[in-house]
Amino acid sequence: MIKPVRKAVFPVAGLGTRFLPATKAMPKEMLTVVDKPLIQYAVEEALEAGIEQIIFVTGRGKSALEDHFDISYELEDTMRARGKSLAAIDGIRQKPGSPVYVRQQEPLGLGHAVWCAREIVGDEPFAVLLPDELMVGTPNFLKQMVDAYAGVGGNIVGALEVADSETDKYGIISPGAVDGRLTEVTGLVEKPKGKAPSNLMIPGRYILQPEVMRILETQGAGAGGEIQLTDAMAQLIGKQPFHGFTFDGHRYDCGDKAGYIQANLALALAREDIGPSVRAFAQSLLG
Ligand code: UTP
Repeated sequence: MIKPVRKAVFPVAGLGTRFLPATKAMPKEMLTVVDKPLIQYAVEEALEAGIEQIIFVTGRGKSALEDHFDISYELEDTMRARGKSLAAIDGIRQKPGSPVYVRQQEPLGLGHAVWCAREIVGDEPFAVLLPDELMVGTPNFLKQMVDAYAGVGGNIVGALEVADSETDKYGIISPGAVDGRLTEVTGLVEKPKGKAPSNLMIPGRYILQPEVMRILETQGAGAGGEIQLTDAMAQLIGKQPFHGFTFDGHRYDCGDKAGYIQANLALALAREDIGPSVRAFAQSLLG
């Protein structure tokens, strides 16, 4: 029987050093694309995909994230008193007792951050979403993965083709048989040095079985001196079904300055309210 994916882990305890000075006092996940913080895009993606429990793995200095999903009493009260519409913030606040927050006391790596959620995840499959990767597609990326998971179960990671020169930045898949959007995963390597096994990198979306937590429990540091999720996932290959899923849509790496600007431009151009003026300005800039 394939257990449904009800829980999603959002690792948000990283330091965001590539985005300094913006991220000195503000969480990277609160950077806005047009008018919405990255974390809200990711939470909406998860909820639309049917996720019932949101789990944030946070660290010190991330309280703005928690406040964003809470009531903003003074703001809401003042806006109501002035007869202003609350439409822009309606629906952000989560139900009482949600999200769940756990702490990663030290940023020891993505694998370690995911492991910090083990008590809340328990013995269930779970999704992991990295909010600094903004995915735009219909249906959304996680929903496409959840639908694929209903057919094959096991573990599914995103799979996205990158240029040869980029493979040393990411977790890379050794591909096996391909069936539509699903590619069998026969191996995984984090930030390969030298020749990579393929051009398929893992973007920040995962559906994982809880056994990965047991592996992370004793796992040491890998590439970059960090406890890598990729290394733990690699140990599940051959023991459980493991697939890469090719997303129908667009990925913006908002942890990177150029990717972040691209996301803002693309999403602004697609908006009915500001799209026309942004387009005219961009065209005038480009001559
Ligand atoms: P990144 O490596 O992109 O994030 O991790 P970072 O370390 O914050 O950024 P840079 O490289 O210094 O600029 C991907 C995701 O994993 C989380 C980050 O918050 C981000 O959402 N993460 C990473 C943790 O929660 N804990 C960690 O120890 C590392």
